[in-house]
Amino acid sequence: MSHDLLKGKRGVIFGALNDLSIAWKVAERAVEEGAVITLSNTPVAVRMGEVDVLAKKLNAEVIPADAASVEDLEIVFEKSVEILGGKIDFVLHSIGMSPNVRKKRTYDDLDYDLLEKTLDVSALSFHKMLQVAKKQDAIAQYGSVVALSYVAAQRTFFGYNDMADAKSLLESIARSFGYIYGREKNVRINTVSQSPTQTTAGSGIKGMNHLLDFSDRMSPLGNATAAECADYCITLFSDLTRKVTMQNLFHDGGFSSMGMSLRAMNLYSKALEEFCDEEGRIIYG
Ligand SMILES: NC(=O)c1ccc[n+]([C@@H]2O[C@H](COP(=O)([O-])OP(=O)(O)OC[C@H]3O[C@@H](n4cnc5c(N)ncnc54)[C@H](O)[C@@H]3O)[C@@H](O)[C@H]2O)c1
Repeated sequence: MSHDLLKGKRGVIFGALNDLSIAWKVAERAVEEGAVITLSNTPVAVRMGEVDVLAKKLNAEVIPADAASVEDLEIVFEKSVEILGGKIDFVLHSIGMSPNVRKKRTYDDLDYDLLEKTLDVSALSFHKMLQVAKKQDAIAQYGSVVALSYVAAQRTFFGYNDMADAKSLLESIARSFGYIYGREKNVRINTVSQSPTQTTAGSGIKGMNHLLDFSDRMSPLGNATAAECADYCITLFSDLTRKVTMQNLFHDGGFSSMGMSLRAMNLYSKALEEFCDEEGRIIYG
């Protein structure tokens, strides 16, 4: 259902690869809420993926770009302003990639050239995006920029590898750039820390199915889906959140505030009776 939350707004969405992608859902919801958008992904993803299907459906143009390339990003913002007919109101950075994970290099055996690539594509690209947009003055007053993160930026998760470092850097960039862009142009910059989600990037994480299950059991509201993440991003792009900036916002069903839940404990506890009173009611729920 549309609430016209983004009526008349212009957006650039990076990272829609297929219909599992979080960016795909955000693009669909943004247009449903009245926005006009451009889409961007790597030339390879544009050729091999399904971005064109989405573009057709949403009447959006696709501008291929390697987000690690300043020159490519300059073209994305220049063209987007031209195509959409004015300054950009919102940007989604939904990009993540670790060649160390792909090559199964563990965190205590990282290839440093690959680490640089992880950090460049998954985190520095966010800084490059912001710097290019600011230099071009491409983002409108009170524009909103969101990048997607994961709780492994704060806590250690088995198998998340060098992406944890990339996410920490990403969140730091949101704060540092958020100060400058906010002060000068009222542009707000936030990261949304999303539940584990079954996507192409997500399936690269070691033990993803177990992580999804654990995380779901630990979260009082259960894992947040990609569609729910899209809804949350729409609120951040809307005028209803004009004073929210420099934040890492957890969108994870409560996971990040949990220590242990009954549903998770059940897996470890062979004798649930220990936790029940005489009537079988849970005592420490
Ligand atoms: N899936 C999860 O469990 C999860 C959880 C929290 C956060 N996130 C984050 O959400 C974001 C989107 O990932 P997703 O899960 O939708 O997976 P996805 O695979 O659909 O999206 C990742 C995108 O990054 C793009 N990309 C890779 N290298 C690029 C480059 N050099 N330039 C431009 N684009 C490039 C890919 O083409 C792809 O479209 C990522 O930042 C990811 O870390 C994912």
